[in-house]
Amino acid sequence: MTGLVVAMDGPSGSGKSSVSRGAARALGLRYLDTGAMYRAMTWWMLQQGVDLADPAAVAARCGEPAIVSGTDPDGPAIHVDGVDVAEPIRRAEVTGAVSAVAAVPEVRARLVALQREIIGAGDIVVEGRDIGSVVWPRAAVKIYLTASAQARARRRSAEVAGSTVEAQQEAMARRDTLDSTRKTDPLSMAAGAIELDTTALTLDEVVAEVLRLVKERT
Ligand code: C5P
Repeated sequence: MTGLVVAMDGPSGSGKSSVSRGAARALGLRYLDTGAMYRAMTWWMLQQGVDLADPAAVAARCGEPAIVSGTDPDGPAIHVDGVDVAEPIRRAEVTGAVSAVAAVPEVRARLVALQREIIGAGDIVVEGRDIGSVVWPRAAVKIYLTASAQARARRRSAEVAGSTVEAQQEAMARRDTLDSTRKTDPLSMAAGAIELDTTALTLDEVVAEVLRLVKERT
């Protein structure tokens, strides 16, 4: 299956990362976390003291940081100007600011170009919000993962120390609204995508279903 690209889109907490990594491992494919790239850009902007409420300021600086993404499903690395940012990009400060940065068209143009360079070699599972619709519409398999708002919040609060399900649900609803209503490349289900509701499924069940879909379509 040389050149295979699997696009995995969906809202936060739908299980994209665990499912994408599990499927990539099982299929011997690479893995790209495009959300980590938007987070890395946001981390850098915060470090630089850029006013994130000012899209023009974000646009003016977004060409500066060198963002390098690894593609190993067992430990996807992400570096900004040579600094390993895998841990700080998961902090609440970045999570709360990333949707504003990701809404800036110049940021998207730059990161989508980087993503296409990595995807070009194929044999990869790519997770994000706009992979099947914008970044790689010709992906052989496009999956749109969903889950109930409660299930998504429950999963996320289990990952984030000291957070309640209610607080997570509220924060995720805010981020989903920003991500799906922005003008450039909003979160949406791509033409030809298969929707997979993971609310009542275990991780292994979802990965098995993805593997079945990949087999069926390749
Ligand atoms: O997937 P994750 O929660 O790490 O993504 C962080 C943010 O990056 C999303 O809330 C969204 O604003 C942005 N994003 C995006 N397009 C992608 C991936 C992520 O706009 N392909």
